[in-house]
Amino acid sequence: MAIIVDQGKNIFTLHTKNSTYQMKVDELGFLLHTYYGSRIDNTDMSYLIYNMDRGFSGNPYEIGGKDRSYSLDTLPQEYSCFGTGDYRISALRIKNGDGSRGVQLYYDKYILNKGKYSIPDLPAVYADDDESETLEIIMKDPYSHVEVHLYYGVLEKNDIITRAVKVVNKGSEKIVVEKAASLSLDWISQDFDWITFYGRHNMERITQRSAINHGIQAIGSVRGTSSHHYNPFAILCEKGADETKGQCFGISFVYSGEFLMEVEKDQVNQTRLVCGIHPDNFEWNLLPGEEFNSPEAIMTYSPHGFGQLSRNLHETIREHICRGEWKHKRRPVLVNNWEATYFNFTGDQLVEIAKDAAKLGVELFVLDDGWVGKRDNDNSGLGDWYPNEEKLGCSLKELAERILDTGVEFGIWFEPEAISEDSNLYREHPEWVVRIPGRPPALSRNQLVLDFSRKDVQYYIIERMSDILSEVPITYVKWDFNRSICDKFSNELGPEYQGEFAHRYVLGLYRVLEELTTKFPHILFEGCSGGGGRFDPGMLYYTPHIWCSDNTDPIARLTIQYGTSFGYPVSTVGAHVSTVPNHQTRRVTPFSTRAYVAMSGIFGYQLDISKMTEEEKDDIRKQIEIYKNRYDLIQNGHYYRLLPPTSDMCTVWEIAAKDGKEAIITAVYHNVEANPAPVMVQVQGLNESGSYQLELDTVFWEDKLDEKVKNWLLSKLPYGYGEGELISGAALMKGGLVIPPAFQEYQAWQIIIKQC
Ligand code: DGJ
Repeated sequence: MAIIVDQGKNIFTLHTKNSTYQMKVDELGFLLHTYYGSRIDNTDMSYLIYNMDRGFSGNPYEIGGKDRSYSLDTLPQEYSCFGTGDYRISALRIKNGDGSRGVQLYYDKYILNKGKYSIPDLPAVYADDDESETLEIIMKDPYSHVEVHLYYGVLEKNDIITRAVKVVNKGSEKIVVEKAASLSLDWISQDFDWITFYGRHNMERITQRSAINHGIQAIGSVRGTSSHHYNPFAILCEKGADETKGQCFGISFVYSGEFLMEVEKDQVNQTRLVCGIHPDNFEWNLLPGEEFNSPEAIMTYSPHGFGQLSRNLHETIREHICRGEWKHKRRPVLVNNWEATYFNFTGDQLVEIAKDAAKLGVELFVLDDGWVGKRDNDNSGLGDWYPNEEKLGCSLKELAERILDTGVEFGIWFEPEAISEDSNLYREHPEWVVRIPGRPPALSRNQLVLDFSRKDVQYYIIERMSDILSEVPITYVKWDFNRSICDKFSNELGPEYQGEFAHRYVLGLYRVLEELTTKFPHILFEGCSGGGGRFDPGMLYYTPHIWCSDNTDPIARLTIQYGTSFGYPVSTVGAHVSTVPNHQTRRVTPFSTRAYVAMSGIFGYQLDISKMTEEEKDDIRKQIEIYKNRYDLIQNGHYYRLLPPTSDMCTVWEIAAKDGKEAIITAVYHNVEANPAPVMVQVQGLNESGSYQLELDTVFWEDKLDEKVKNWLLSKLPYGYGEGELISGAALMKGGLVIPPAFQEYQAWQIIIKQC
């Protein structure tokens, strides 16, 4: 049993492989949070709570003058409430029927179930009954008659506890839920850092570590989507924690809309973290008897640093978030025409790219933006989901068939949530656009947003896309969305209900995705929002991988993919090889470096293969062969960050087989120095007693280097790379491995380590 209930003392203890989480109902009926950390026994951890009379931290009425040290303002709470004596950041804020903002929850009862709860209309972790348990705790406010159900899903083996909340109006008047976070987490005493992932278009998920100081710090989004700017994921860790040591807690929010993750260090150095839907654009009306379900938050704990924390999340997202036929199926190597042609293409040109690609081992051709309505640039055509046959030179079906004839599958781009002012759809349905009446809406990429909170809009998109997907032999859909949402207003909601718009939009998006992915289970859906603007576990429930960034420069990708790897597995990261100079940064990098970086993701090309030299084509053939051979290990192995992109010379990461018998190390020199110091890493995840052989991929340079450089390099290879040279697992893990030096700028190496 992962969940232990001590009925006598009203203590709930949740155990995972390496962690314990505990709550206790106190004598007044408040649910206190007593512990989250390394796995312990079922000891009542409330002995750690030490109360003192703190001036200006008042006492609940029931306790009156009897004990001035008892205060909700300092006690660790399981689900913090606004307005009734806890002045810190709170999880729940309710506007009552009389206009007051006050709520306080008292324990009522609990329900224990095998298996993992699900949430109506929202994505959530799923698991079989024999791998998960659910605890539901029901709390009540006897004054405002609000009932709150706290859900806990425990995946013991994965070191995962999920949380979600349901708010029910049990009273006789309408209430407004102004904030209903999915998770509130208190630590009695810890001096934490937190790691967050910020960014922008073309540069997502940059890692930032800062101390949690007194006051409130927050990340979030009010952009309608989870955003490029802050990912809905953070790590709290003790000072000094790193990849392999130290306690750390990961919080990942399974939601693709606006979110807020706040932390506060209080007057007595306690830390509180609250995570949920962003309250700025949120107000949910509950009539008597109605309920509101929050999205889910995932918590994981590692006593051994960030590496283990990431691997817990990787496994959970791979096995318990991603769904459908493509969950375990090898994703096809694709070529996408965006960076090859942008909007300027003809059907014949596309067929030429596909033809050359097929010969080299590419398995799928993806037709990107520019095939619909009148859309030769990004100023028009969105919403008109009818192919531009004049531009294609034939019907879409005929084009798809021509592409299939070349030997690759056919995939296609959509941007279903967007609408151009210059489109037939806009002319027919201006009321379908998100905008505030009487106020001109802000444009972004010269486009507007379709009101996905509306059923008729959802229906239109489902119908239009279904028609195309049924008629044309399409096996892959790229679902893009290229702006943030402002001017929030829906023509279908009354004035009091406009605060529901942002969340209803996300529910609408999920509904459309659920319907299309169910109707077309054989189609692989790729998520995208101008690259990684909606890279979150909510989207991954529908689209098992996401285009990670519009930036395809491998050196910039080191930073982007490094940050992404903290919360997401390689199997969710769309990564493509593109041309040089790179279109985003103008940087020139070796072809093999571009390939090695893209291989730590869902691999593909975004360049005009038909214009490449025979030598380059030969390289593509080799790259694809290598990727296919290493696919299982790369996609399902254990991921280790060995050197960050902020290190002096080289970014290094490793993917090891779960049995430790094989590993791939990728090292990319992001810097050049004269007379450089050697780059050394400690390999992880091998078998200590095993003997390993190192194999350096030489396939991309062997026949290209002149003899002098080649001989120099071969003479400089560290011990272990030569034939018959074996090194023990213990030596590689505790001593280390020397990365061969670079012989050119932005050199990348892939090293295969095999137990023999
Ligand atoms: C943004 C995407 O991230 C790109 O890959 C491409 O599909 C463009 N949109 C097309 O408009």
